[in-house]
Amino acid sequence: MTDWREVMRRVPRARFTPPVVWADLGPGPWARVDRDTDPQEWERVVALDQPLITQFQDGAAEGGGLATSSLSMPTVVVEGLDQLAPYDHHRVLEIGTGSGWTAALLADRVGGTNVTTVEVDPALGMRAAERLKASGCEARVVVGDGAGGWPPGAPFDRVHVTCAVPQVPYAWIEQTRPGGVIVVPYSPGFGCGALLRLDVLPDGTATGRFVGSADYMMLRSRRPAGGQAHEWVDAARRDVRTSRTRIDPRALRHEPVSVDVTVAALVPGVLSRYYEAEDGTTTLWVLDRDDHRGPWASVDYEPDRSDFGVEQAGTRSLWDEVEAAYVRWLAWGRPDITRFGLTVTPDTHAVWLDDPGNVIGPPPGP
Ligand SMILES: C[S@@+](CC[C@H](N)C(=O)[O-])C[C@H]1O[C@@H](n2cnc3c(N)ncnc32)[C@H](O)[C@@H]1O
Repeated sequence: MTDWREVMRRVPRARFTPPVVWADLGPGPWARVDRDTDPQEWERVVALDQPLITQFQDGAAEGGGLATSSLSMPTVVVEGLDQLAPYDHHRVLEIGTGSGWTAALLADRVGGTNVTTVEVDPALGMRAAERLKASGCEARVVVGDGAGGWPPGAPFDRVHVTCAVPQVPYAWIEQTRPGGVIVVPYSPGFGCGALLRLDVLPDGTATGRFVGSADYMMLRSRRPAGGQAHEWVDAARRDVRTSRTRIDPRALRHEPVSVDVTVAALVPGVLSRYYEAEDGTTTLWVLDRDDHRGPWASVDYEPDRSDFGVEQAGTRSLWDEVEAAYVRWLAWGRPDITRFGLTVTPDTHAVWLDDPGNVIGPPPGP
């Protein structure tokens, strides 16, 4: 097994870290750290086991809004590379070049000419290519939408994805040789995401288990629409049905990631948002990721209440569906994320529990 910590000593993170990064250094907004004005602090944060944000709003903002590129935290990088487990002469496709650091780590293991890394953002891709070249690495940087993979380099033995997807683009499976491995953060929309290790089979399908939680930025073309949940629902605030629930809506947030995978499988197309006020009141919004004017639900947690107010509108009762999925997960005995897996075919995604034959969802479409 490759000792990725040793690889990181040969290919230091600092070499790929831009001069300005934003770090989470405690309560409050991201802390801006500038190598030119505070080189010691910059070196200190680069050495921390923390993600470092390198871009917001696709480059349109500084220090706020949606974080759109980062150097992932080193332990998370090691976890992904351990799952990928490339070996000598493997041809590796990476999606999400970012700074170029993980491409350089892969290149150290399999040789630079065997690594192709795809970055959607031209400015980031160009800077990563410069850094890779400056460090003597021959990895190829391609600027484009990584959802399509990179057909000229196929077949690949390994696909290393460093941005999250709600569904695995079939192009990645098509471009991987049978027996090859795809490691990808899977974020179907409800709660947090999970790291998935897929084996590609000779029949053109891919199947594999989730290995842990994974909180990555979304692949650009698969991001859910932005905006505040209440803005979405204001557009569809008609015929609201009210009820009460005894389930604490915060539980959905605090339970392990296997709940998120279960809910996303049983309640297809669902998207969650939480808003927490300083007085402890929390609202869980459940939305339809593809339909801004579609069904929605909200559940308000209020301290000292024994049940909680629910509002639902539209053609589906989304909270009822989420609650039923959560109760099923409890009844299964709170299965750990590693008991779940996913099988992908050209047309379907099927989440299973324990065995690929035991599919739990999503249900077949209309
Ligand atoms: C967490 S960062 C990647 C970190 C990177 N591996 C490193 O070592 O610095 C995710 C990257 O994925 C890129 N990305 C997002 N959508 C993409 C897409 N459709 N195709 C290729 N890259 C994409 C983002 O621009 C961002 O740079």
